[in-house]
Amino acid sequence: MPDGPDCHMRSDALVRLGSADAERFGTTHPNDSSMMINGQSMRLTTLIKTVAARFGLGIFDVRGRYAQDGLFTVHGDHFRADPGFRAAYGRGVQAGHGVDPAFEWRVHIALWAARAGLRADGEFVECGVNAGIVSSAIMAALRWNMVGRRFYLIDTFTGPVITQYSQDEVRDGRATLASQALDAGAYVTDMDRVRANFAEWPNAIIIQGSIPEVLEKTDIGMVAFLHIDMNCALPERAAFEFFWERLSPGAVVLFDDYAYYGHDHQRKSIDAAARARGAEVLSLPTGQGLIIK
Ligand SMILES: C[S@@+](CC[C@H](N)C(=O)[O-])C[C@H]1O[C@@H](n2cnc3c(N)ncnc32)[C@H](O)[C@@H]1O
Repeated sequence: MPDGPDCHMRSDALVRLGSADAERFGTTHPNDSSMMINGQSMRLTTLIKTVAARFGLGIFDVRGRYAQDGLFTVHGDHFRADPGFRAAYGRGVQAGHGVDPAFEWRVHIALWAARAGLRADGEFVECGVNAGIVSSAIMAALRWNMVGRRFYLIDTFTGPVITQYSQDEVRDGRATLASQALDAGAYVTDMDRVRANFAEWPNAIIIQGSIPEVLEKTDIGMVAFLHIDMNCALPERAAFEFFWERLSPGAVVLFDDYAYYGHDHQRKSIDAAARARGAEVLSLPTGQGLIIK
């Protein structure tokens, strides 16, 4: 885990690896020693896994595997070695003042989604910017100054709006989590810092204000890529509904927390809004959600 505050460092991101899949995914280490149990020889790792499974816990050998940000997989994470990806991810970390949120697969997907968005007409928009980790990675990867489009970056830059949390979200601790993150300095409120981060991209348009109210005051036309990441159902749904008619054919919508652990209220609200528009969200194992219009 990173050692500094950031709103992506969620205490609820820890994953309980509880599944019989432990046997399937765990590899046996060559130095594993054997023990005699009930007269039978049992490898130590097998014994530990068997005991753990009784308690609903899975033990995985994560060496050489992708295991961060609530996602463990034995599948290939080749993109992490790509120099272009490393440079873009590094620019994101730089936006976060060197604090690495350790969510490379999410950024990988965001870069893919943003590139796909380039095939549609219109501007790029991010609702929920904070330090600008994901948006900076995108602009670095896409060489934003060569693209000739605007990237609207919308945020209160005072943190979440606590009064926007529904009763259910409050009951489930979402508002408390947000307040605690705010108190811990996880949300960037220094506008000079925000402006300095995006200064290298003249077409990055910073808009300070609360969604939904601020949206009517913007002059955003057609949209090709929309990233929604506010950790609260009300503004996320409002942003989705506001921009839906403005999305060009082929435009990409990426929800940062659609299926993320503990964010069920956002998913249910977004699902209802999407269904009402004949759309369906692709749920991604990173916790993100994706729509291509
Ligand atoms: C998880 S952070 C965004 C992280 C960012 N996408 C990144 O790449 O690091 C959530 C952000 O949403 C903003 N936010 C929450 N509610 C908002 C609202 N109603 N209007 C505008 N911004 C909001 C917060 O201020 C916070 O900066």
